[in-house]
Amino acid sequence: TKMRKDVRILLVGEPKVGKTSLIMSLVSEEFPDVVPYRAEEITIPADVTPERVPTHIVDYSVLQTVAYRNAACSGVPLILVGNKSDLVEHSSMETILPIMNQHTEIETCVECSAKNLKNISELFYYAQKAVLHPTGPLYCPEQKE
Ligand code: GTP
Ligand code: MG
Repeated sequence: TKMRKDVRILLVGEPKVGKTSLIMSLVSEEFPDVVPYRAEEITIPADVTPERVPTHIVDYSVLQTVAYRNAACSGVPLILVGNKSDLVEHSSMETILPIMNQHTEIETCVECSAKNLKNISELFYYAQKAVLHPTGPLYCPEQKE
């Protein structure tokens, strides 16, 4: 039998980077002027996702983000997101590449803007793909018995 797991996408990051705005922009296809502190968890039905898998999107709070970061080894694929690309004139790839090289658990990186709706659906697609078709090591050596 073919197993079809649900995908869970968690948005983690420093305060005010735009986690909630990214989710609201994806859902409403427009930039919200005012956002709540946290978005409700949303579930995207399988038939409207590119990979046909039910996908849950969770807006992590700062506290959860700290806890996440402190976990010894998460074993989950990461997408490095540079939001607010509308505010910068040049690409931040120079900053991003050394981080990518240091952290092999980062599957890919994407520059986006919740405000301009740039790369928003792509970002969530990359996250979904990273779970379903990971390229990096998925296990943590420290967790082996
Ligand atoms: P916390 O939940 O408080 O940690 O913040 P957050 O990461 O959820 O960020 P939030 O979505 O609340 O956005 C913070 C501020 O950045 C708000 O004033 C947003 O309007 C603004 N913002 C979010 N995304 C963008 C973007 O792509 N471009 C610009 N220019 N501003 C943005
Ligand atoms: Mg928020």
